Amino acid sequence: MYVYIEFRSELEYESILSFPAFVLEASFRRSHRRFRGNRGNDDRYKTASGVHTNQIARPGPAARVFIDSRRTIAPIDRNLFGSFLEHLGRAIYEGVYDPGSKLSDASGFRKDVLNEIRQIGVPIVRYPGGNFVSGYNWLDGVGPQQSRPRVLDKAWNSIDSNQFGTNEFMAWCKAAGTLPLMGLNLGTGTPEEAAALVEYCNVEKGTKWSDLRRQHGFAEPHGARHWCLGNEMDGPWQIGHMSAAEYGTKAADAAREMRNVDSSLKLVACGSSGPLMPTYLEWDREVLEQCYEYVDGLSLHRYFGNRDSDTGGDSAKFLAMNLSMERQIAETLAVCDMVRGHKRSPKKLWLSFDEWNVWYRATSGDGHRTEAPHLLEEVYNLEDALLVGGLINTLVRNADRVKIACLAQLVNVIAPIMTNADGLYRQTIYYPYSWALQYAKGTVLNLLVESADYAIPGFEHVSYVDVAATLDESGRTVSLFALNRDLAKSRTVELQWQDHAPSKVVASWVLTGDDLKASNSFAEPQRVAPQAFPVPSTRGSRTALELPPRSYAAIQWSLA
Ligand code: AHR
Repeated sequence: MYVYIEFRSELEYESILSFPAFVLEASFRRSHRRFRGNRGNDDRYKTASGVHTNQIARPGPAARVFIDSRRTIAPIDRNLFGSFLEHLGRAIYEGVYDPGSKLSDASGFRKDVLNEIRQIGVPIVRYPGGNFVSGYNWLDGVGPQQSRPRVLDKAWNSIDSNQFGTNEFMAWCKAAGTLPLMGLNLGTGTPEEAAALVEYCNVEKGTKWSDLRRQHGFAEPHGARHWCLGNEMDGPWQIGHMSAAEYGTKAADAAREMRNVDSSLKLVACGSSGPLMPTYLEWDREVLEQCYEYVDGLSLHRYFGNRDSDTGGDSAKFLAMNLSMERQIAETLAVCDMVRGHKRSPKKLWLSFDEWNVWYRATSGDGHRTEAPHLLEEVYNLEDALLVGGLINTLVRNADRVKIACLAQLVNVIAPIMTNADGLYRQTIYYPYSWALQYAKGTVLNLLVESADYAIPGFEHVSYVDVAATLDESGRTVSLFALNRDLAKSRTVELQWQDHAPSKVVASWVLTGDDLKASNSFAEPQRVAPQAFPVPSTRGSRTALELPPRSYAAIQWSLA
């Protein structure tokens, strides 16, 4: 008998909770940290959010940003700007793989999509799910394509032809110039099956599973290093959902078996699916109590909405939601480090924020048992792109502990790139993501920021100006990413270079517009597109910028 799965994601699950997200945020413990200098109890010097922002409330319209190349957070891991492809809707079929298309190569890969991904340089792509992975038998997706079964995917009630599987994904990664972040089925799948997939992918030859890969035409091992031990196992919507203790034990078992096959693996355990889960943080603690020694990282996920129940549809609240991501990172790290203390472990875990994005409109996940249904085809507007910029700033500021993050997803499904039979277009969120890939390199700078602020429930100090910056010693460049949350007014920002002032601007872009709800489409692909940002001038150790209202800007300077 077919059993309908009531919730297909945290999003659907959350939507049944009657509390608006920002009301729940308000009840969270206040965790403002003081500016590092000794400012006593003056409320003005409380930071806007969490760990690394060092933002000081400053009355008046102009913000000041103090930049010193000796004050850094951490080298940035390129995998911070990864993405995600799931067997869901048209992400794989019609998205990256479309053998019948005039736009595809001999392997069936969409050339226009490959070009786009190669050009922006996506470093790592999570695959094959998502909820899909928890019912996936990887053996269905390998071997001669004509013998592969058509399978009912129960996560999205869709048909998977299995024409694209592990080997096609690895070949696609090579063609796209990216690395795989492999998802494992720890729902219906067993630790033994997980270890068999590692053997199939990574062992050169002479064993049952490596020889099967060779028989399938892949003589060279794929060398997949990064693996996720299941997906959102805390969620009642997840196939094989179980208690934290059960999952932690299963993850530890899988990790041990997988490491016996390949000791070089980097393994990520499933943390909470989001802060609104009733088991938030308690799940993470219990899981880590079971598997801390066997894993390298813990996952976290988050989708932001702008419904009545999220923000009351208030753009000022919506644009502050990256501070909520900042808080989620701080809280999850606190749990990791508490378990580390319990275990007296020398090892510090890192975080894999392997699903994050805006997503709240196209939420129906029922594919009605068809192939490549149009599911989760969210249309992004300008304000979504501005928040995505803010979320990138938050990830950059937390680069000391967040080593992997995946914009969910990459093509057609809650995605920056949309395809049809004739081509593709870039959604609004494509731009801040591509700027991070292009300009955020080297080491993250620990900026001191003074900015006027506003309050929303749960966050007393939301700076109008939210910034992050990186310094690339090898390329001799500094890049600044700036969100202006002021919906009505431009904001002046004065940069004060405390050691070296830069010599000249090499790139300067801004995303802005009058209509926060404007979006792109096949008919109007450039309605929301980057504009040249007036090149800011530097005098001595000061640079003045005028950020337009409702804007996200990326500016890169070369160093003298
Ligand atoms: O990205 C869409 C879905 O959201 C994923 O399958 C799941 O992990 C999350 O709930």
